[in-house]
Amino acid sequence: MSDQRKGDIRQGVPCIRSVRVNFCVGLTTGVVITSLLLGLSLIQRTSLKRPFYEAVHQQNDALGHWYQQYIDHLSNQQSGDLHADFDRNIKSHGEIDFKDEHVHHDDDKLARNLYDRVRILCWVMTAPQSLETKAIHVKKTWGKRCNKIIFFSSETNLTFPTIGLNISEGRDHLTAKTRGAFNYIYKHHFDEADWFIKCDDDTYVILENLRYFLSNEDTNTPIYFGHHFKTIVKQGYFSGGAGYVLSKEALRRLSLNHSVACRQDGGAEDAEIGACMQNLGVKAGNSTDSLGRSRFHCFDWETHLVGGYPDWYYKYDALGAKKGEKSMSDYAITFHYINPNKMYALEYLIYHLRPYGILSGMQDLNHKKI
Ligand SMILES: *[C@@H]1O[C@H](CO)[C@@H](O)[C@H](O)[C@H]1NC(C)=O
Ligand SMILES: *[C@@H]1O[C@H](CO)[C@@H](O)[C@H](O)[C@H]1NC(C)=O
Ligand SMILES: *[C@@H]1O[C@H](CO)[C@@H](O)[C@H](O)[C@H]1NC(C)=O
Ligand SMILES: *[C@@H]1O[C@H](CO)[C@@H](O)[C@H](O)[C@H]1NC(C)=O
Repeated sequence: MSDQRKGDIRQGVPCIRSVRVNFCVGLTTGVVITSLLLGLSLIQRTSLKRPFYEAVHQQNDALGHWYQQYIDHLSNQQSGDLHADFDRNIKSHGEIDFKDEHVHHDDDKLARNLYDRVRILCWVMTAPQSLETKAIHVKKTWGKRCNKIIFFSSETNLTFPTIGLNISEGRDHLTAKTRGAFNYIYKHHFDEADWFIKCDDDTYVILENLRYFLSNEDTNTPIYFGHHFKTIVKQGYFSGGAGYVLSKEALRRLSLNHSVACRQDGGAEDAEIGACMQNLGVKAGNSTDSLGRSRFHCFDWETHLVGGYPDWYYKYDALGAKKGEKSMSDYAITFHYINPNKMYALEYLIYHLRPYGILSGMQDLNHKKI
């Protein structure tokens, strides 16, 4: 057992205190592997017909205990840190021993530290008919890693909950909705976060990487970041679907002076906000890494990996519409067009799947700045 693991606070599992340790570890490993295999085969068989989450839920009985706890966790937790809650949940049931070398568990001290230091308010633009088909899956996956998350829609829904923007539904009114949402946040939640990211209900955000990137930026400067399009606005603007993140000063200017500097409604929402930001002296910031790789993405990860971009993209993308893993940062922040199944897939790929014997990326941070 490595020193790192020894320092881990995971006592209280009666299993490991006695001579039964080998038996327990073996048994646990067996249960976990069997559960995962069962789970995976089930997913393969059912995912084409139903969303991943539902499929797994309806097959309760066939699944192992551990896997079920994880799925329950995903559906029950409304907020808070995924790893902390997950660990607590598992620990209270006393079913799994994290000292088992076969169960992966990263040291997440850095990410936890940034959670407090770089507070992110996420807001998601959704619609009444998308609450149960899209928005709920944001809430159950990446949304819980925001310091605060707010869903905006055309109607208030106290159960979900969503804030009603009192503006009619439809693409023509997106500009007014976005401005309305930012104004609302400025009025009611300005002190609760350091940065404010706007997303759609099919955006996926890797919050840890967003905090890491922003930890080098000053929220008191008028700046915002996202997937950079170089057309229409002189300094360019950021794709709405890829999500864009505003500093405190950017939000303050947008909310206080929008009536002077911005179009009230209509047009393409992201370009209008972009023009508005330029008028307000808010800089379109550079978020590529030191190797020139992108962090915000207006398509899903497959498209950015293998290509298949629409024609317009070659005119718009400020980084030259590159593709392939070498064009994307290892610390990528967002992807767009992520349907619910893909959200759960990303949760698994990012937070669970590991190649055995290779240290996690955490080590990089201590040695080189990316
Ligand atoms: C409000 O949200 C809840 C929970 O998502 C949903 O079940 C309900 O149908 C919504 N109500 C309306 C009027 O859309
Ligand atoms: C929309 O109207 C409702 C009811 O008057 C109000 O509670 C809500 O705050 C308004 N939404 C915004 C974004 O101002
Ligand atoms: C808002 O606009 C006015 C007039 O253009 C300007 O004097 C003021 O400094 C602006 N305020 C902000 C917060 O940008
Ligand atoms: C953007 O930032 C990266 C990392 O700091 C830097 O290497 C790159 O040169 C910058 N690009 C531009 C266009 O300023």
